[in-house]
Amino acid sequence: MNPSPAAADIARAFLPHRYHYWYARSKLASDPLYGGVRQALAGCRNPLLDLGCGIGLLAHAVPGLGSDIDYVGVDNDADKIASARSAAQRAGLLRVRFEVVDLATQFPADHRGSVTILDMLQFLTPAARTALLTRVAACLAPDGRLVIRSGLADGNWRSRVTRGADHLACGLGWMNAAPRTYPTRAGLAAELAALGLDSDIRPLWGRTPFNNWLVRAWRRPGHAPA
Ligand SMILES: C[S@@+](CC[C@H](N)C(=O)[O-])C[C@H]1O[C@@H](n2cnc3c(N)ncnc32)[C@H](O)[C@@H]1O
Repeated sequence: MNPSPAAADIARAFLPHRYHYWYARSKLASDPLYGGVRQALAGCRNPLLDLGCGIGLLAHAVPGLGSDIDYVGVDNDADKIASARSAAQRAGLLRVRFEVVDLATQFPADHRGSVTILDMLQFLTPAARTALLTRVAACLAPDGRLVIRSGLADGNWRSRVTRGADHLACGLGWMNAAPRTYPTRAGLAAELAALGLDSDIRPLWGRTPFNNWLVRAWRRPGHAPA
């Protein structure tokens, strides 16, 4: 696999937007998210759909995405999508597309491959989350992967810090919505199993105080999507 591009090089693609430049630098330097997703997607050549993509950092952080492998990122924040488009263009990522989509009510058409949902499930109601995961399961290729990172409702101090930080991000205007609910570990695993997906779930908080977990899921052999 190609070496991961340096955080500073990735962040430069977001200039002249100073806030997104510093956000990208600090996020890449401090959060184990993208390393975890790189590992979870290793060897996977399927087109990737990134749900709640924000400014599209993932497309820059996983070597091959957007150059050898098609990447589509969707988010309901039009400003972030605009920033994602111009940064990808500046970075020379030609096989990317970004669209404004409200995942509470819509789902991008015609995807078949792998899917990532990173730090966005908490913005959906339980019913919208179930509807989204059902659509996701149906578009996973037989050898596709679903990679989720999510805070989980554990009732511990990490859960409280995670919820508090999400409310703060909304209060400061970094996020366009407050969190609604966090899934439980058992609930999420059961929901994926009911959709015909096998999964494993492990902590991915690194040195951060958040209750972030990485979920890898794939179609159970012999199980056709609904
Ligand atoms: C914490 S950010 C994560 C961004 C990106 N996945 C990452 O990890 O770098 C959560 C993202 O989910 C998006 N989001 C929240 N509710 C959404 C919805 N209903 N439809 C689409 N995107 C949504 C927000 O706009 C935001 O960009």
